[in-house]
Amino acid sequence: MNLLTLSQLNPTQRLALLRLATTLASSATSNPLLTTARKRLAHRSIALLFFENSTRTRASFETAAAQLALHPLALDISTSSTAKGESFADTIRTIAALDPAAIILRHADANAAHIAASHSTAPIINAGTGTKAHPTQALLDAATIATHALPRLNLPAADPDQPFQHLRIAITGDIARSRVARSLIRLLPSLGAELSLVGPPGFLPDRFALLGFPIHRSINDALTTPDSPPHILYALRVQHERASHADDNAATDAFISTCAIRRETLDKLAPNALIMHPGPVNWGVELDAALANDTRSLILHQVAMGVPTRTAVILAATGLADLNTQSQSRPTT
Ligand code: NCD
Repeated sequence: MNLLTLSQLNPTQRLALLRLATTLASSATSNPLLTTARKRLAHRSIALLFFENSTRTRASFETAAAQLALHPLALDISTSSTAKGESFADTIRTIAALDPAAIILRHADANAAHIAASHSTAPIINAGTGTKAHPTQALLDAATIATHALPRLNLPAADPDQPFQHLRIAITGDIARSRVARSLIRLLPSLGAELSLVGPPGFLPDRFALLGFPIHRSINDALTTPDSPPHILYALRVQHERASHADDNAATDAFISTCAIRRETLDKLAPNALIMHPGPVNWGVELDAALANDTRSLILHQVAMGVPTRTAVILAATGLADLNTQSQSRPTT
């Protein structure tokens, strides 16, 4: 199966993927599902087509592939036939003809994953497309919250189908240009979390109010919401490389002065409040550099959670884990 956007997964499948990721995170490489998968996938490759830069996503997909005994067929786009003018469709058809277990794709075009799926005989896994979707980042963030945040927050018991019930998350940053934000907005409320969005109008245009989440124009407003301050502040990178705002520098200055997270910001919250960021961080812009080694930061846990989450996604994409039953950690036959 393809994983193009989270909207293609129903609530049962989302929960199954989250549970598989957290199970793999706790059982590491000894999970019996991995042993079965390694036998089935041995001697096969998995293609990594990164038309855009990446550190965390690519490194964690490669590590996940290694855990599944898959050879990472990592095409260097700058020296590939793309540089000779080969079309995207032909590149996908060519790689698919080599019969990889899946094709992992990152691309600046928001529709690239859907276009690739229409040309590929191998499953397509979206590793970030344009400003539209980054489903595996949202899933690994949810797995990080389940594994590392909920045990520290002492929230009231949640409905098992809504594991993030009672959890409040404020997302701050360049929301308009963020594919991570779009995937988080789709996933976290479906798991029961209450979201609020924070940013100056340049980063969070008024139209975002239509989504129905509270909107704050400053981080202080978000923190002083009566009786309901967020438990997690999720910061997003200022993305100058994407389609530019008319007045990017002014929007960035407005963001830094009103919506960035400083140590004092965090100190105003409950002592167990946490910060997250998908990386790469612009220290001193989204987050105070003083927070780099703060124990309230889950950023490196997010990086580490990339591996079991992407392993879970590869298992689902290759048909080795069934997301339609709650007992998804059993191998399919
Ligand atoms: C994000 C991305 O590339 O979409 N990073 C990531 O995958 N860890 C976010 C970003 O680049 O700001």
